[in-house]
Amino acid sequence: MNEPYLINFPKIGSLETGYLSICENEKLLFIPKRIYWTYLTPENIERGGHAHIELEQILVAVAGKIDLTIQTFDKKLFEFHLDQPNLGVYIPKKSWRKMKYSSNAVQMCIASLEYDEDDYIRDYEKFIQLSTK
Ligand code: TYD
Repeated sequence: MNEPYLINFPKIGSLETGYLSICENEKLLFIPKRIYWTYLTPENIERGGHAHIELEQILVAVAGKIDLTIQTFDKKLFEFHLDQPNLGVYIPKKSWRKMKYSSNAVQMCIASLEYDEDDYIRDYEKFIQLSTK
């Protein structure tokens, strides 16, 4: 799985009762080691700006909207607009990502590995150099 893609999670419920979504079975692409979430991100802020060497992730906008740009190791560009809580994006390892958020956005990230700063590539030039090797 070298390319990012949109995941459509099951959605159970109705406007009358409210909804529930589930990430399991084939939609859960790895056994998670960590879940984290971001919130109250100002609209003028861009987050991300890094790649991971081994980490795989699934991002979900459980509230609000997230615009996500991903550049894969083979230099393909992908754009996603998450605006429903039943949608997610799979981000493969070695992908450069940038995210912008609506002010009410809550981003949940399901991660394949525990936090490790050594797994980050935070220098875009270094990412490009590694990807051209
Ligand atoms: P970072 O991954 O750069 O955030 P984003 O991709 O949302 O811009 O992380 C921001 C800071 O939080 C950075 O100092 C590392 C720290 N951090 C942890 O300590 N543990 C974690 O699980 C995560 C994701 C980040």
